[in-house]
Amino acid sequence: MESGLIHIPYMRPERTSRQTFDWALANAREADQAGFTEFMVAEHATQKWECIPTPELVIAAAAVQTERIKFAPMAHLLPQHHPAQLAIQVGWLSQILEGRYFLGIGAGAYPQAAELHGITDVSTNPARVRESLEIMEKIWKREPFHYEGQFWNAGYPEEVDDGQGHDDHKIADYSPWGGTMDIAVTGLSVNSPSIRFAGERGFMPVSIYSGSSILKTHWETYEKAALEHGHTPDRSRYHVSQTVFVAETDAEAKKLAMEGGIGYAFERYLWPIWERFGMLEGYIKDVGGDPSDVDLEWICDNVWVVGSPETVIEKLNKLYEFTGGWGVLQVETHDYMDDPAPWFQSLRLIAQEVAPKIQLPFSVTAGN
Ligand SMILES: Cc1cc2nc3c(=O)[nH]c(=O)nc-3n(C[C@H](O)[C@H](O)[C@H](O)COP(=O)(O)O)c2cc1C
Repeated sequence: MESGLIHIPYMRPERTSRQTFDWALANAREADQAGFTEFMVAEHATQKWECIPTPELVIAAAAVQTERIKFAPMAHLLPQHHPAQLAIQVGWLSQILEGRYFLGIGAGAYPQAAELHGITDVSTNPARVRESLEIMEKIWKREPFHYEGQFWNAGYPEEVDDGQGHDDHKIADYSPWGGTMDIAVTGLSVNSPSIRFAGERGFMPVSIYSGSSILKTHWETYEKAALEHGHTPDRSRYHVSQTVFVAETDAEAKKLAMEGGIGYAFERYLWPIWERFGMLEGYIKDVGGDPSDVDLEWICDNVWVVGSPETVIEKLNKLYEFTGGWGVLQVETHDYMDDPAPWFQSLRLIAQEVAPKIQLPFSVTAGN
C-alpha cells in the first residue's frame, strides 16, 4: 500500500490564514521526507475548519520545498470555476511541477460554497462537472472550437500567422505536462454518481472511508462502470481517506488521538457533519452497535485507525480482507500545530512501519 495525506485541513477556527498556510507546508515537507507518495489539498470557500479556499497556492509553495511527493487538489470543485480559467491554471501548474501533479475533481459538498458562486440548485452539480470537464479537455487539445453549453461558454482561438515564419505570436501552451492529465474523482454517497463517472472515464476513484459496506459498493460501482466502458479497474489506483494515528504503544496513540487535534475536531466539528451525511451509520453497521453507544472513545476505537504500528497493520489488514483493499491510504491531516512532534512521528510510522506491510490481497486487475 502507498501512503498519502489529504489536507482538508481541519484547523481550529481561531487559526490565522498564515498559520493555516504554514501548517500545510510543514505537513508537505514532513510527508515528503517520511516517504509519502501523495499530498492532496482540499478546496473549501466557506468552511471555517476547512479553511483552504485555493489549494493551488499551497501546492505551488509546497512544490518548491519538497522533492518527490506528488500533489493534487482534492478536489477542485468544477461547478465553482470557469472551466477555461481552471484548464489553463491546472495545465500550467502541472508543467511547473514537472510530473508531480494530478488533478482531483469533485462536485462540492457544501451548499453555502455553491451559493457563493451563484448556484442555487445543487442537483445540477453532476451535469456541471461533466460539462466543465468536457470544456477543459477541449482546451487542452489546443484546437480551435467555440462551445456554448448549458452552464458555460468557452472556446480556443485560431493561431495568428504573423506571415514571417516566427513563433513569437503563437498561443502559449498550457496543456498538461506530458500530454495527458491524470484525474481522480471524489465519491461520498452510497450509490455514488461520482464514483460511477470515475469508472466510465477510467479515472482514479477516491472515497472517504465511511464503513466497509459503502466502500464495497463504491468499488462495485466503479468496477461495473469501468468494464462497461472498456477500462480495466485497478485496485492499486483506488484511494481511500481515513483518520489514522500511530504511536509506539496503543495507549499512547489513543491518548494523542483523543486529546489532540483529531479528538478536538471530531467533538466540535466533524461528528455533527458525519451524522448529517449519514456517515456514522456505516461504522455502526460494521460493529453491529447501536447509535446510543457512540461517544468519542467509541469513534476512536471503531472509526479511526489508531494504535501501535502492529495494531494499525492488523486493523488495516482486516479492512482489506473485508473490502478487497485499495492502493493508496490517504491519511486525513489534523491540527497538531501547537505540538507537532507526535503528529510527525505518527506520519513517519505510517509511511515506514505500516504502509509497506499492507498488501492488496487479491489480483489488482479486473473482476477480482
Ligand atoms: C476524498 C474526498 C475529498 C473531497 N474534497 C472535497 C473538497 O475539497 N471540497 C468539497 O466541497 N467537497 C469535497 N468532497 C466532496 C465532493 O465535492 C462531493 O460532494 C462528493 O464527492 C459527491 O459524492 P457523490 O457523487 O458520491 O455524492 C470530497 C469528497 C471526498 C470523498
